[in-house]
Amino acid sequence: MAKSLSWLGRQVLVCGGSSGLGLHLVIAAARQKAKIAIAGRDANRLDEARSIALKHGAASVVCFSIDLRYLDSNTNDDSGKLEQWLSENDVALLINAIGRSDRGLLEQLNSKDLISLFEDNVLCTWNMIQLALHSLKRSKGSIVNIGSLAGLVSAPNMGGYSIAKFGLTALSRQLRLELAKDEVSVTLVCPGPIDRDDSGNRYQSLAKSRGLSDNATAPAGGAKLRLLDPEKLCEKILDAASQRRKELVCPAKAKWLAAIMPIWPNLADRILRSVLKS
Ligand SMILES: NC(=O)c1ccc[n+]([C@@H]2O[C@H](COP(=O)([O-])OP(=O)(O)OC[C@H]3O[C@@H](n4cnc5c(N)ncnc54)[C@H](OP(=O)(O)O)[C@@H]3O)[C@@H](O)[C@H]2O)c1
Repeated sequence: MAKSLSWLGRQVLVCGGSSGLGLHLVIAAARQKAKIAIAGRDANRLDEARSIALKHGAASVVCFSIDLRYLDSNTNDDSGKLEQWLSENDVALLINAIGRSDRGLLEQLNSKDLISLFEDNVLCTWNMIQLALHSLKRSKGSIVNIGSLAGLVSAPNMGGYSIAKFGLTALSRQLRLELAKDEVSVTLVCPGPIDRDDSGNRYQSLAKSRGLSDNATAPAGGAKLRLLDPEKLCEKILDAASQRRKELVCPAKAKWLAAIMPIWPNLADRILRSVLKS
């Protein structure tokens, strides 16, 4: 049962809401009886997410099958429908939860790998914000961008992801300055690894193909971090958005490492190495 009902009856749009953290956020908003919209590519997964949201109490659910990397070129999806819907609906909360991690050393990545990580972790969010901005300005709404601890400090065995998530951090911080005059808030969420059924197996074949150690397949690329409970995390995220907080780092202690990095980089690197499994 939801503890807070800040989003009761309000319009929440979750991009990447058909799986993983995005789906948990859909459920958390549904428990608050929000009106929910979900964007993702796969129509079957969207249908499943719609049923799950209704089962958990959503006031209404609408889904858009859309590839948010290529808004201009793809005419075969729901982008027109989404644009029309945004012109008629005031979104109170836009959650950008699309993103993809990686495993590999920087020297193993080619430019295509890096561009693809940028598309998934930055461009999808940027495209969605461009689309939804009028609606958000009308409602003086809130944006939540799901970043990562890897967007605050270097991440072992996943430097490409880290580069992309640092980009999302920059986007979020810039946007919150630019949108303050419109009273649209921007919350950057930087979680560590999140517990899921496939934790630890997800990147096995990729890490193997790049000749990395077993450690690299682990959540957070092998850093010693406790897995976050997705339900608790989602409650925190919805609360942070309703309080218009600027940043949410989970676990909170990780923000100290990010803070000392530019001041005492030697110390920060030593701490970073110490959280890597041997
Ligand atoms: N998992 C973790 O431990 C963890 C930790 C820290 C931060 N994060 C961040 O949390 C977010 C969610 O991660 P996750 O692992 O939970 O993701 P996930 O399970 O892979 O789900 C990704 C969602 O985004 C949608 N999506 C992907 N590409 C898309 C595109 N081009 N256009 C539209 N929709 C697209 C997917 O649906 P379709 O494939 O059907 O499009 C799906 O709904 C990401 O930003 C990730 O970086 C995750």
